[in-house]
Amino acid sequence: MHEKDASVGKRVDLANATAPGKVILFGEHAVVYGRPAIAVPVTIVQATAAVAAAAAGSGCTISAPDVGVRIRLPSAPDNPLALAVRLALAAAGVDAEPDWNISVSSTIPIAGGMGSGAAVSAVLARAVLASAPTFRGCPDAETVNRIVYAVERIHHATPSGIDNTVVVYEQPVWFVRGRPPEIFDIAKPFHLVIADTGIASPTGQVVADVRAARQKDAARYDAIFDAIGAIAERAKRIIASGKLETLGFLMRENQRLLRQLEVSAPSLERLIESAEDAGAAGAKLSGGGRGGNLIAVVKREKIGLVREALLAEGAARAIVTQVGG
Ligand code: PMV
Repeated sequence: MHEKDASVGKRVDLANATAPGKVILFGEHAVVYGRPAIAVPVTIVQATAAVAAAAAGSGCTISAPDVGVRIRLPSAPDNPLALAVRLALAAAGVDAEPDWNISVSSTIPIAGGMGSGAAVSAVLARAVLASAPTFRGCPDAETVNRIVYAVERIHHATPSGIDNTVVVYEQPVWFVRGRPPEIFDIAKPFHLVIADTGIASPTGQVVADVRAARQKDAARYDAIFDAIGAIAERAKRIIASGKLETLGFLMRENQRLLRQLEVSAPSLERLIESAEDAGAAGAKLSGGGRGGNLIAVVKREKIGLVREALLAEGAARAIVTQVGG
């Protein structure tokens, strides 16, 4: 990971880091209110960062060429990329601005409920910590997780912490806000088709809308959150036992409750219906909703059909991932 010899005059990477995307299988939104949720990493998409030594005195530049971003560290107080770098430098005990070029890129859809922001923060934190001369060894997950959570708070004020946790630990996570995350085993692998509505939907806005609606009718919303939490509990039991027959049913039930929270959208509903018509056992939105991605649990032999149906119905893309195994 380390290459500390910058004397040869060409670009020398000090450190590289990668982090996966994620999907929430069950429990989004309710997790903000203390109910459990399950999320899994999706390694087929990922963020990467590289820190390279720059000429002495040139300072620290962060570039994300995919999205046309190039910023100088000191001049971007509110930028989430700069915040991740600053927090990592502070955690490593580096006071002075280092002479580094940091580049970051990602294949995770932005604002699509797949943890793009958290993954980008995670790779920046890891690569910066690993490059700091004061920081020895591999950056520990807890430090990285703390940094990523702090950056997530820029995007919305009350993140549950599930995104940063699954992206940093790169394991299936059973998550209850305020408790240490539980990593759990998948007894029998299963497949998901993940389809993108192509509609960017900032999670913070949707979370704020749910909060406002709950303030008007707390009893109704809390009952929905309880029902979603109960589905997550059942899903954890069946995923841990490998008896997956009811997984699709639980997805459909979770989606029914998400609809009641008014976080679904016509584009999601159309795609969910087409996936189920094409043979998915069940499908639901994943993440903040109103756009972004949906997930469909699909038997191996139906994957092609479901993928084609989603693309025919207008999905911006449809990827297949295996959970567990
Ligand atoms: O849209 P994403 O991937 O950021 O997922 C958000 C999940 C929510 O439960 C809606 C919010 C949260 O902080 O847990």
